[in-house]
Amino acid sequence: MNYRNNPKAVQALIRPTEVHKDIFVDDEVFELEMEHLFANTWVYVGHGSQIPNPGDFYTTTVGDQPVVMVRDNDGTVKVLNNRCPHKGVEVAAPGCGNTGKFFRCPYHAWTFRLDGSLLALPLKRGYDPQVFSECEASHGMAAVENVRDYHDFIFCRLNPVGQSFEEFFGESLSTIDNMIARSPQGKLEIAGEPLRYMHECNWKMLVDNQTDTCHPMVAHESSAGTAVHIWESSGKEGPTPMAVEQFAPFISSYEFFEDMGIQVWENGHGHTGVKNSIHAAYSPIPGYMEAMHAAYGEERTKQILGDVRHNTTYFPNIMVKGPIQTLRIFKPVAADKTLVESWAFRLVGAPDKLLERTLMYNRLINSPTSIVGHDDLEVYQRAQAGLMSRGREWVNVARLYDPTESQRKNEATNGTNEWQMRNQYQAWGRYMTASMTEAV
Ligand code: FES
Ligand SMILES: [Fe+2]
Repeated sequence: MNYRNNPKAVQALIRPTEVHKDIFVDDEVFELEMEHLFANTWVYVGHGSQIPNPGDFYTTTVGDQPVVMVRDNDGTVKVLNNRCPHKGVEVAAPGCGNTGKFFRCPYHAWTFRLDGSLLALPLKRGYDPQVFSECEASHGMAAVENVRDYHDFIFCRLNPVGQSFEEFFGESLSTIDNMIARSPQGKLEIAGEPLRYMHECNWKMLVDNQTDTCHPMVAHESSAGTAVHIWESSGKEGPTPMAVEQFAPFISSYEFFEDMGIQVWENGHGHTGVKNSIHAAYSPIPGYMEAMHAAYGEERTKQILGDVRHNTTYFPNIMVKGPIQTLRIFKPVAADKTLVESWAFRLVGAPDKLLERTLMYNRLINSPTSIVGHDDLEVYQRAQAGLMSRGREWVNVARLYDPTESQRKNEATNGTNEWQMRNQYQAWGRYMTASMTEAV
């Protein structure tokens, strides 16, 4: 099948209750995702606390595009295409650092201001000013026009035209708001480097998994189930260890997950854990409640901490866990390759023990040596292999489907409903084809 310049063929990959396997395995579909989907949506770049001072930078990718996020002298955050306008070298070195007042390309020492504009180049007299001013290179590194700093969460939209940030995210921003409010000072800081490992599967399998509540009690029985079994057979002396508190809810019953609910928002966003969640029953951290009461008063604190939403998917490729303060990015590398990064946040003004809980959760569930994350890794990789089979064409997302749902929006529903997955795939079809032109 030829998908380039063929929006109808791309749209036909998404049915109300099924999606075609080509969205996971086809190389051309992957290329089109990079060109269209990751350009038309607001994609997470990084957190402002990673670059607190002017000149601080952090390099990453938006889809497959190398970018550098940098703090400009006026305090604003810029996102630049990390590509020298001279011969194409990635100007900012991989990782992070402080570049001072300007970037300097390592190849021929052209320099660029923090907003990307060209500052100087050696032997400038060798260029005719008129000729050079007509060259693309005279404009410096290309800055991404549409950047939004939402309380330190930096997003960008590569396509100069499209939906506004507010239209795209709508009510879903309430998860980020809640995570920030959990700090007695209303401030988050990235805590160290992310845990990072490669998954030999399509990036959308991870996005799909974030609201897949019918898998934990099956796929994680061997890991979380064993942890609980060991604790129970030990005689359960003393307080429940933090690790057991974090493992145990993974093997909750179907009824638990049905009851906790799923919230579906417009444009592919949504979250598990409306009434209840796997993060609802952790032991109190000494000193935290007191700090929250002092900052917000009892009523508001109850409201903030009573919101225990579980996984919030921000379409296309991040997931935020407010109550445990982590953020995961599913970075597409190829149709069958995804780099997963799991970042942890410190709640400024909260006791260190809370950060310990966040880091323990991240390590237990999301690290390259996690036993829980590897249950998922195995099924993703077996799914990627299985989808190469010619035995069947479609992937099923029909659970609790209601034909009227496409006319409804921003609703909470049964926690095992696959509506949120359908919501993501419908959004996928729209943002893929929004800027695609038909071959003439
Ligand atoms: S490639 Fe950057 S200065 Fe030549
Ligand atoms: Fe899982």
